[in-house]
Amino acid sequence: MEKLAIACDHGGYDLKESIKTRFVDSVEFLDLGTNSTDSVDYPEYGITLAKAIINGDASRGILICGTGVGISIAANRYPQIRAANCTNVTMARLTRAHNDANVLAMGARIIGEQVAFDIIETFLSTKYEGGRHDQRLEQLTKGNI
Ligand code: RB5
Repeated sequence: MEKLAIACDHGGYDLKESIKTRFVDSVEFLDLGTNSTDSVDYPEYGITLAKAIINGDASRGILICGTGVGISIAANRYPQIRAANCTNVTMARLTRAHNDANVLAMGARIIGEQVAFDIIETFLSTKYEGGRHDQRLEQLTKGNI
């Protein structure tokens, strides 16, 4: 069973719990919080999850906030993290195939629960294509700035 880190802010708490229930038979979750709908700051959770991936505590991750935007920005501050905020299955498929995204971000106030489940299934099952995308990932990782 793949071990996935999962984290959210208060806006993503309900969806995080639904995801854990839906995928209980196919995914081992490392739940990094938050653990209620009490207001928290999304950067803390994005950064904590990024560090868990970098440390090898989980192979990939799922992040959820209200929009998926703030928490993905936080995780993407680390060059080892490619967090993609996806609102549909096509984005999930292509960010795996082309970007080798290792973190899936979603907005609980943007997409519905079933769409989130479908996005996760696609994200987990789609392989990175390599080839022409390798040099682009290398540029992302090393930075040409
Ligand atoms: C929290 O209210 C909200 O700002 C957060 O969940 C997220 O949408 C930020 O990008």
